[in-house]
Amino acid sequence: MIDLHSHILAGIDDGASCLADSIALINQSIATGVSKIIATPHIHFGTFDNNLHTIEQVFNPLCQEIQKAMMTVDIAFAAEVRICPEIMLLVKNNKIPFLGKVNEKNALLLEFPHSHIIPGSEKLTAWLLANNIQPIIAHPERNRDLWLHPTLINDFVKQGCLLQITAASLLGDFGERSEQLAWQFLDLDIVHLIASDMHNIKRRPNRMADAFRLVAERFGEPLANKLCCDNAALIFATNNTVQSFKGPQ
Ligand SMILES: [Fe+2]
Repeated sequence: MIDLHSHILAGIDDGASCLADSIALINQSIATGVSKIIATPHIHFGTFDNNLHTIEQVFNPLCQEIQKAMMTVDIAFAAEVRICPEIMLLVKNNKIPFLGKVNEKNALLLEFPHSHIIPGSEKLTAWLLANNIQPIIAHPERNRDLWLHPTLINDFVKQGCLLQITAASLLGDFGERSEQLAWQFLDLDIVHLIASDMHNIKRRPNRMADAFRLVAERFGEPLANKLCCDNAALIFATNNTVQSFKGPQ
């Protein structure tokens, strides 16, 4: 499986807090069948003021640690960007770390606030699409406006935005409403990716393997493969920060 949403970089958001935590998350991912991971720390102005530079500074030591530990994994970085008007400036200045490409467009992992959908969000996503950027909306099933009015997602889907569901939502880890909405979006066939959004080994580990099993049981293995592997593979292959590591065979 290929995981395009993770908080494995240490000390720059609410994910891994030290290199040992990062390694533990990667080890747990490998042990459960994940072979490629994109680190997507938050870029959230005023809360996690990350940029390409701060992310790269933490990514490089992690690569050294993976090499030392002789792990077999491919890792890369991008970011999970909280929706805000400043995104337009970041785009203009080439400061957004993208996941990779979807149909020649740069894929941006875009996060809405958990509480609501900010009025005008669809204008920003339309602007992104018009500027050759493919918004991938992170975990819409965890948004409280969407719990109450799931059809609000339709405008974004019609525009061409893609949706990423969090694996643990399908397992009930984020409560019943997120679980129901995640399955509802799968029933509607509007989901492009399932990713872990892992933060820490104790409370928010990588649960892609469990989600894969449930999706395969309900919809068949081809769909589980598409959502956990195939769609992500196309994006991962076009990320230009990929580092491949091979441990002893
Ligand atoms: Fe996240």
